[in-house]
Amino acid sequence: MHLPYEEIVAALPDKPLQNAVGLPYPLLASGKVRDIFDLGEHLLIVASDRLSAFDVVLPEGIPGKGVILTQMSLYWFAESAPIIDNHLVPDHAAALAEALRGHPEYIPRSMLVRKLRPLPIEAVVRGYISGSSWRDYVLHGTVFGQRVPGGLLESAKLPFPLFTPTTKAEKGGHDEPLNLEQCAALLGRERHEEVYDASMRLYAMGAAAAKSAGLILADTKFEFGIDESGNLILIDEILTPDSSRYWPKDEYEPGGPQPAFDKQFVRDYLESIRWDKSPPAPHLPHEVVEGTRSRYLFALKKLLTDDGGRP
Ligand SMILES: Nc1ncnc2c1ncn2[C@@H]1O[C@H](COP(=O)(O)OP(=O)(O)OP(=O)(O)O)[C@@H](O)[C@H]1O
Ligand SMILES: [Mg+2]
Repeated sequence: MHLPYEEIVAALPDKPLQNAVGLPYPLLASGKVRDIFDLGEHLLIVASDRLSAFDVVLPEGIPGKGVILTQMSLYWFAESAPIIDNHLVPDHAAALAEALRGHPEYIPRSMLVRKLRPLPIEAVVRGYISGSSWRDYVLHGTVFGQRVPGGLLESAKLPFPLFTPTTKAEKGGHDEPLNLEQCAALLGRERHEEVYDASMRLYAMGAAAAKSAGLILADTKFEFGIDESGNLILIDEILTPDSSRYWPKDEYEPGGPQPAFDKQFVRDYLESIRWDKSPPAPHLPHEVVEGTRSRYLFALKKLLTDDGGRP
């Protein structure tokens, strides 16, 4: 279960946490955002405040971003439990507190999870046409090989959500689009269908809950793992501003990009300066760091406190 919104705000640091240091566990891997520790049967995933854009980690972190991402994921893991099992260990709050005894400052940004075998794809679902799907549509009139109506405006709602998976690139690489046949070939037909079905149901659930909170969930990316019995399990983070596009519902106006509560703010800044998107990444001005933090926090606040009159 996530912390109440006020407690999350109180737990946000002034300075960004770059790395989780001082924990008594071996570091198994360090992703662009998360440090992953090996606890034998389980993994401890600590979300740092590192920020990546265009697959490059930026020199400035966003203070408290890891807390926001983790708490938002915990909210969505609870919401999505009727649809699919997730990687959190049973009795998560107590087990996490036990694993982080002596380091309670990491609790709000950490998850204790089952060690699973990640599937080699990123399960992207798009309800609206934006970003790379818009660019592909302008070029080819299709969305990564899938047919959509002609004459759509940028940011238009698609007639039905599209599953547009990508590869999961190795460190330093970029994810590449996969068409549905390639995805089925990679996963096996049955697993592909299971992933497709789960992703669509999760997107529909997320989009409906976001709508009640005054947000449009334009698109998102899920990751799945397989447990020792072959079950499909939801892993990683879910429906966060790092993995999703969130737009304000009452300002929605197709025909251009939308004001976003997600990473788009940083991408827009980086597009506005001369940077070729290869390391090293440029420094971010203070306003961009603050602006990103307040956008992430706003999306969290909407979801956790503004239920839009949901029963
Ligand atoms: N329950 C789990 N079991 C195994 N691996 C997991 C689990 N949950 C998440 N992961 C993996 O942990 C990593 C999370 O770290 P992070 O989000 O920083 O990575 P990333 O930058 O997105 O990707 P990369 O690892 O390629 O750098 C991802 O590679 C994700 O697939
Ligand atoms: Mg990730």
